[in-house]
Amino acid sequence: MRIVIGSFLVAAFGTLAAAAPSVDFKTQIAPILSAKCNDCHTAKKKESDKKPKGGLALDTPAGITSGGVLEAGDAENSELFLRLILPKTDDDIMPPTDDGGPLSKGEIAIIRQWIDGGAGFSSGSGKGLEKIPADLTAATVSAMRAGEPNPDGVSHLQKIGATVSQLSLVDPQYLVIEWISTYHQTGDKEIAEILHLAPNVVEVDLARTKLTDDGLKAIGKLGRLTHLNLNRTAITDDGLAHLADLRSLRWLNLYGTAVTDASLVILAKHKKLEALYIWDTKITPEGADKLRKSLPDTKIVRETDAKAGRFDNLEKTRKFDF
Ligand code: HEC
Repeated sequence: MRIVIGSFLVAAFGTLAAAAPSVDFKTQIAPILSAKCNDCHTAKKKESDKKPKGGLALDTPAGITSGGVLEAGDAENSELFLRLILPKTDDDIMPPTDDGGPLSKGEIAIIRQWIDGGAGFSSGSGKGLEKIPADLTAATVSAMRAGEPNPDGVSHLQKIGATVSQLSLVDPQYLVIEWISTYHQTGDKEIAEILHLAPNVVEVDLARTKLTDDGLKAIGKLGRLTHLNLNRTAITDDGLAHLADLRSLRWLNLYGTAVTDASLVILAKHKKLEALYIWDTKITPEGADKLRKSLPDTKIVRETDAKAGRFDNLEKTRKFDF
């Protein structure tokens, strides 16, 4: 019944709704969060307050999207909205009643409109999304300052199906990019868009995407990358060669790819590798033994051990842990 009414309304007022001005995060939402929430919900290191309240940092787009409190397009299912409309007497109301709560009706309405409208961070003008410089290299990227991630870059990646989250609350500038339920429709073109956030990206999960060798050219420029998951992609030795300059790489999963012993030379150069997963690749047992000699401190996993197996559960969080 609800669905029928809903579609009737959309049919009847669809054009009106489309004409409603969309909410701009930077000028309409960020100022409210800054005035009413960020004293408590910040990841910025302050001596008095080492951790954001409720483990939730509301002062950067990545913080807001990592907290699990936002269901883009659905305010009624977003903790970020539901906490605002609780009765004043409820202990869970945000901001707390003795710390500025509740928000005004107008503030609540605009936050609702923003979430219902997709909870984007882009300025809408597209101006914030700069062209990716053609001459980026792993070395130039690692020399760049990792400041606050460009909100337009974050919005853009979300729009093409990526999940963008903060590595941790204490290092909010470092990002994890993954395609969780959208991997099957993600190819080299989408993956190259990660470069919009190049200096911020430290972990990338491309498992089961349509990545090819060519797509690894872009990945090879992510100079800060420490964790890379390429499992069950179509990459080969040719593609792996593009990763030669990723000197910070500590964790690499090649499970289910066609890489062979020809890649050993490249892999042996990654001296910081702590873990390498090569189960179900064409690397031979002899090749793996040779590699163990070149990388004595690296854990090289050739079997379907429990750790490699956990990648079947793509929803699981912190899957990059050792
Ligand atoms: C005076 C400090 C303070 C202010 C101001 C404040 N919060 Fe909170 N917030 C907390 C604390 C403490 C918690 C954790 C306890 C709880 O869940 O109620 C919390 C929890 C939350 C949660 C739940 C987190 C989760 O993971 O479930 C949300 C959502 C939230 N706050 C949103 C907001 C928003 C939005 C604002 C501003 C409109 C705001 N808060 C302002 C202190 C604050």
